[in-house]
Amino acid sequence: MIRLEKITHRYSSPEGGDVVAVENVNLSVAEGKFVALKGPSGCGKSTLLLIAGGLLRPTSGDLEIAGVEPYKLALDERAAFRASRIGFVFQQFHLVPYLDVLDNVLAPSLASGRKDRKRAAALVEQFGLTPRAHHTPSALSTGERQRAAMARALYNKPKVLLADEPTGNLDPENADIVLKQLIAFADQGGAVLMVTHASDASAVADEIITLGHSKD
Ligand SMILES: Nc1ncnc2c1ncn2[C@@H]1O[C@H](COP(=O)(O)OP(=O)(O)OP(=O)(O)O)[C@@H](O)[C@H]1O
Ligand SMILES: [Mg+2]
Repeated sequence: MIRLEKITHRYSSPEGGDVVAVENVNLSVAEGKFVALKGPSGCGKSTLLLIAGGLLRPTSGDLEIAGVEPYKLALDERAAFRASRIGFVFQQFHLVPYLDVLDNVLAPSLASGRKDRKRAAALVEQFGLTPRAHHTPSALSTGERQRAAMARALYNKPKVLLADEPTGNLDPENADIVLKQLIAFADQGGAVLMVTHASDASAVADEIITLGHSKD
């Protein structure tokens, strides 16, 4: 479902010079599997997730996500592919600041055309956010924002879920809610790739992949 082959990514900036963020990484996640991605800060975990999510074209390497090679698609096709097949939970959430929780969870319907307020409300409930459904992100705790971002990622029923430290800001009880959702997603045939530092989070994964330090 997720297959990355010899992926290398170099960020170039005129001021700071080049940074090799990801070097020659091979990784795959089969249907129904939950894989945890670990490694020290700066080793390229978020970069790799962005690449897998069709959000950042790698400098070199091949990848296939849900049967598609996203960087071989035209930009609008790639956007449509991302919206329908990939759920992404960003390390910094990227919730829409002027929309309330319910409308944030509904936001992916703009790309898919499948607007279903009942589904959004059910996801809000699933993540224990019903009492905060009509608050905007600035009124939420970090953990609540995290859960809202997870609910939004699931809205379009993706095949692949990419989550960047989804339990990093949560207390054990809330971390447990999120991990159970990720496990359930994999059990239903999805593929999960989760970046995490937490040992209890990686303990529930089918496989743990550790990235080394990048060379720069
Ligand atoms: N836009 C960018 N331009 C230049 N360098 C970048 C950029 N984004 C990330 N980097 C660098 O690439 C490397 C990998 O960054 P990345 O965010 O993927 O690491 P990470 O493993 O997710 O770290 P963390 O655990 O702290 O979130 C780091 O050295 C980082 O400074
Ligand atoms: Mg990161």
